[in-house]
Amino acid sequence: MQLLVHLSSIASFLFLFCLGISHFLPPVIKTWVPFVPLHASASWQAVAAEKRRRDMAKIPAEWRLPQKVIDEAGRRRSVADEFIDSLLDPDSRFLTGLEVPALMEMTTNGSLTAVRLTTAFCKRAAYAHQLNRNLLEIGFDNAIEQAKSLDIFWEVHRRPTGPLHGLPITMKDQFHVEGMGTTMGYVGWIGTFEGNKSSERKHRHESELVRKLRSLGAIVIAKTTLVQSLWFGETNNNILGYHWNPRNQQLSSGGSSGGEGAMQALRGSALGFGSDIGGSVSMPAAFNGVFSIKPSAGRLPTLDMPNSSPGQINIPTVTGLLGPSIASLRYAMEALLSTEPWLTDPGVLPIPWRKSLEVDTSEKKLSFAFMDFDGVVRPHPPIARALNMVKDALRATGHEVIPWDGPSHAQALAIHTAITSADGNYDVFEQLKLSGEPLIPQLIPDFPGLKPGPVKNAIEVEEAVLQLKKYRVNYQNYWLSTANCTMTGRPIDAVILPVVPSAAVIPGKLYHYDYIAAANVVDYTTLVIPVTRADQSIDIPDPNYVPVGEVDKKNWEAYDAGIYHGAPAAVQVLGGRLEEEKLLAIGQVVTEALNKHHISSGVRP
Ligand SMILES: *[C@@H]1O[C@H](CO)[C@@H](O)[C@H](O)[C@H]1NC(C)=O
Ligand SMILES: *[C@@H]1O[C@H](CO)[C@@H](O)[C@H](O)[C@H]1NC(C)=O
Ligand SMILES: *[C@@H]1O[C@H](CO)[C@@H](O)[C@H](O)[C@H]1NC(C)=O
Repeated sequence: MQLLVHLSSIASFLFLFCLGISHFLPPVIKTWVPFVPLHASASWQAVAAEKRRRDMAKIPAEWRLPQKVIDEAGRRRSVADEFIDSLLDPDSRFLTGLEVPALMEMTTNGSLTAVRLTTAFCKRAAYAHQLNRNLLEIGFDNAIEQAKSLDIFWEVHRRPTGPLHGLPITMKDQFHVEGMGTTMGYVGWIGTFEGNKSSERKHRHESELVRKLRSLGAIVIAKTTLVQSLWFGETNNNILGYHWNPRNQQLSSGGSSGGEGAMQALRGSALGFGSDIGGSVSMPAAFNGVFSIKPSAGRLPTLDMPNSSPGQINIPTVTGLLGPSIASLRYAMEALLSTEPWLTDPGVLPIPWRKSLEVDTSEKKLSFAFMDFDGVVRPHPPIARALNMVKDALRATGHEVIPWDGPSHAQALAIHTAITSADGNYDVFEQLKLSGEPLIPQLIPDFPGLKPGPVKNAIEVEEAVLQLKKYRVNYQNYWLSTANCTMTGRPIDAVILPVVPSAAVIPGKLYHYDYIAAANVVDYTTLVIPVTRADQSIDIPDPNYVPVGEVDKKNWEAYDAGIYHGAPAAVQVLGGRLEEEKLLAIGQVVTEALNKHHISSGVRP
């Protein structure tokens, strides 16, 4: 879910650099950093090592990659796309290349068995893990058993169990799945239920979202890595170590759902689920070049899902989807809402899928506002180019583009930090105590925010919440006032803006969360759309650029065209609150406009 807004201060990052943490900056291209013990506490290290060994042993011998392939992978910039494709047999390659609607057409009409599909994705996920170390729990055996049951059901009843019949999915290791453990990135949670060794719920408890997915016929094949504490925009934990981006192994996979972003880029599952309080679904989607939706709070279940500061609901954590296309996200959202999740999770609003909101764009001209620059940190050349590509494609398709000059996103981030750090991060430190593991270097205690305390009192929290409410009103009023400027006389349909100011990020150089965290502060729906790849021959920085401030300067100096080369460059499409149906339709318009005008560099499958 969460990003580490607490860490946005300049001082904190400088401190990290002063330490010169060596495994933080990869000297050469490599797939993953072997776990380097940070403190000499044998017990937690042994527990983590044993878990890694046990998980690796769950990969069948026939799916083990030869050492020479692993070595070659370590020398490459990208292990995604044609590299992982080249390792697979033709049938697995074909099936894992398809999007959710096409797959579900075949499993629900009986022309594709759940076993064949699940086996293909498990094999690919096994390869993905060996190349990219992104799984914290592997359940291939169980998944194939479940697929067998689904096939028997189809044989007996001549109909599918549900619209997701046999869909192989992965979940961030924050959701509970029956038959699997949940670490949430904590060594102290290994082999327990949320840290409790004696709980009878260990490996038996299931999050509500998982129960719904299962009832629709989906199969969880594995769980993906995430950042310890959930509070950072890059993924690292003391179990698997730092997690690299499979599309550019010198960059971060993003956080906190980094493993899920990477798994989708590697196509190790047909669809993935993460959680988001300040960009934790959107950043990994953008960094790895896949699509995502972060709905507004109350649209999808969060019941029975552990969290950091789980009682904090002024800025709620939401569950989000990551996948290979807008159509895949749409298909799964509609299926999930068909289960009427509000009947079992009181946190879900009773809003079924509304077809009426899916704008008919063949008749309607849309208005988009662009926030190319928030006035604080200017996006690097690949992101600026991605925004321009989208702008050109939309104009060429006949849609309207106007500038966005709404309320300050820096103010949104300040409110976010005040609210989400109000409890002094007490529970993160409770979880660390379970095993004695240290904080990951990115969260070292001298960072403001991930030190225990200070704790705000109820009056201070209420003051922050009043600011939040005021900010939301201002944002909404500005949105409505765009009717001044559109040719249609209606307010704009969506805002298009960066996710972060870089195309993925060089470890330790993510300085600015304001573009994305505002979506959580106003609780609007947001999509991520991959647009292009950073290209060192085109994305040349303006040598005469004068940064507007300290953070802008640091971010600008962090741009290295050679290192960023090949990194996915995405945009964020921000829609109104609880407008998931409309925004997904708009996302389809944006993608089709990009495809039609041949200005996409083929990031999408
Ligand atoms: C099932 O759907 C697939 C994909 O559309 C199609 O090719 C196939 O002919 C269908 N099979 C049956 C039995 O309807
Ligand atoms: C751990 O689980 C046991 C068994 O359900 C329960 O009795 C105990 O209260 C739990 N401990 C904590 C700290 O929640
Ligand atoms: C629209 O006009 C109102 C009143 O003049 C103004 O406050 C608002 O900022 C304008 N909105 C935009 C997007 O220009």
